[in-house]
Amino acid sequence: MDLNNIKNIEKDAISSIVSATLEELENIRVKFLGKKGLLKEALNKISGLSLEEKKVIGKEINDLKDKIESYIANRKEELIAKEKEEQLKKEKIDITLPGKPFKQFKIHPLSIVISDIIKIFTKLGFSVEEGPEIEEEYYNFDALNIPDYHPARDDQDSFYIRDKKLLRTQTSGVQIRVMEKQKPPIAIISPGRCYRKDDVDATHSPIFHQIEGLVVDTDVSFSDLKGILKLFAKEMFGEGTNVRFRPDFFPFTEPSAEVAFTCISCGGKGCSMCKGTGWIEVAGCGMVDPEVFKNVGIDYEKYKGYAFGMGIERIAMIKYRIPDIRLFYENDVRFLDQFYNF
Ligand code: DAH
Repeated sequence: MDLNNIKNIEKDAISSIVSATLEELENIRVKFLGKKGLLKEALNKISGLSLEEKKVIGKEINDLKDKIESYIANRKEELIAKEKEEQLKKEKIDITLPGKPFKQFKIHPLSIVISDIIKIFTKLGFSVEEGPEIEEEYYNFDALNIPDYHPARDDQDSFYIRDKKLLRTQTSGVQIRVMEKQKPPIAIISPGRCYRKDDVDATHSPIFHQIEGLVVDTDVSFSDLKGILKLFAKEMFGEGTNVRFRPDFFPFTEPSAEVAFTCISCGGKGCSMCKGTGWIEVAGCGMVDPEVFKNVGIDYEKYKGYAFGMGIERIAMIKYRIPDIRLFYENDVRFLDQFYNF
């Protein structure tokens, strides 16, 4: 064993380390530095040398051990860096590609109309109440003085669930819920979804929206009702809008009226939208029937009230000249895109 041998081991180690892969490096480490490796073997072989030689060659072997360790470590670092670089190259995102266009969100026309109606009535001092869409027969019919034999209670017209529960056919039940928990004076509106077994066509949908109104106080008259609906019509459709009241019948109001607004399409002259009449029906209304007050324990000698119920789709169709109710529910973006943005 001499210095030449050591130099040869070093050359051998360097040449295999510089071209080694990560996996091969471990084998190289074992080959040179392992318990039975070449350096151990060399150390074993110096026992026969003189003390001086042992010192010189032993130091060379130990130095070589450190060198090989650092060659391996450097090569390992180099290989890991290279691997990372390649991976980054492979996964590079091409930021020059055009992005996917982002569709801007618009509000559904029914939501716009509901919030417009709420704005008008809250300005007048009304508050907003909500009622359940799965309603008890009692609130949807009985308490509103709608008798058992009334055709609206028929399975043909209402979606019954069970246990005297159904999908509400009108928002009028909210009147009862409010009067049960609140003492007069009362001034509320209540927008919401309603359901009826209607066949779908241009003006009918089994799901639709109504907005209910109720005012109860000691000094309330039919002219207050007329005044509030006139004011609403002008705020919603413009100053030139007139309101027509014609006698009608609802079991929960007496007297009752059907309400029509001037057709905004023709200004009252008559067109296809108003079927030549110049008017468009939008609501039912009337003075709260004493029977209803009895059902909720309000003194009907002392208090009077008026109520109204409007079809929200109707109002939206007039306001935005929408020809077919089905358009509200199809979620076709070409339709939805036409309405106001935020
Ligand atoms: N709920 C009635 C309907 O669906 C509309 C209505 C009429 C509501 C008269 C009222 C009212 O509050 O007083 O046809």
